[in-house]
Amino acid sequence: MIEIKNVSKSFGGKEILIDISAVMETGKTNLIIGTSGSGKTVLQKCMVGLFEVDQGEIIFDEKSLTAMQEEERKELRQQIGMLFQGAALFDSMTVEQNVMFPLDMFTKWSSKKKMDRVNDVLDRVNLKDTNREFPSEISGGMKKRVGIARAIVLKPRYLFCDEPNSGLDPQTSMLIDILIHDITIENNITTVINTHDMNSVMEIGENILYLYEGRKEWEGTKKDIIYSKHEKLNEFIFASEFLRDAKDMRILEEKGIIENDRNMDQIIRDGGDNLLKDGGDKK
Ligand SMILES: Nc1ncnc2c1ncn2[C@@H]1O[C@H](COP(=O)(O)OP(=O)(O)OP(=O)(O)O)[C@@H](O)[C@H]1O
Ligand SMILES: [Mg+2]
Repeated sequence: MIEIKNVSKSFGGKEILIDISAVMETGKTNLIIGTSGSGKTVLQKCMVGLFEVDQGEIIFDEKSLTAMQEEERKELRQQIGMLFQGAALFDSMTVEQNVMFPLDMFTKWSSKKKMDRVNDVLDRVNLKDTNREFPSEISGGMKKRVGIARAIVLKPRYLFCDEPNSGLDPQTSMLIDILIHDITIENNITTVINTHDMNSVMEIGENILYLYEGRKEWEGTKKDIIYSKHEKLNEFIFASEFLRDAKDMRILEEKGIIENDRNMDQIIRDGGDNLLKDGGDKK
């Protein structure tokens, strides 16, 4: 669990994060959402200690990062896996070397043990037999998966992903989301994901924090979002009229006013007469 307590951060007198408090839960995908510039990346960087907070505290399983000395911080950093915005692979290294890198840096394991671990994580992200490829030779989705493999190779307790599916098509994005979600559960990791992807929110939004101009505006689950009347949140998540209509339909389904396993072909054939569960009697 990671606790954020009353965190504020400014750059050059400009307030970027304002009095944010939240809890990132263990074994869950915790999402930080919000428009571009709302402060998602700055918040993640504060959480991992890349930026110092001006006020407040970040607590990793009861240990305050803010109060830690350098030695303790180094230890904590080894328990943190990071997938940066854009994957940030080393272009001159092969896939295998990229994933090996943290093991070379932080362990004294034998070559065989390191190689086994690299192959295990590459296998886990469905990238068997790509060891010798260079980043320029693989697709965007594969690059993200190499980034995930590198982020989990040291078996982290905490995983931070900044826009893990930016630049990917919706289907590949979903696969990446599901992969991160599954890895989080398998290893009981506290995972924090920055995203502005509506599909991610609906697929893996177990604990969602909505930032607006540096403040926490809302928090809840994907189900809460369907019912939320929060105006700014709704404008952000359901940006198109089409999605707002879809949200309305989902509420009607949840309330049992319309069938959620309705046969659309039949309904269209009947001109919409049998859309309502009780033939329209329900008000
Ligand atoms: N190192 C920095 N120095 C000064 N200002 C910064 C720095 N990093 C970020 N900012 C400012 O902080 C604000 C929030 O930026 P941040 O990168 O956190 O947004 P974001 O929500 O991650 O956006 P995006 O969705 O585009 O990634 C922006 O106004 C940005 O200009
Ligand atoms: Mg960002």
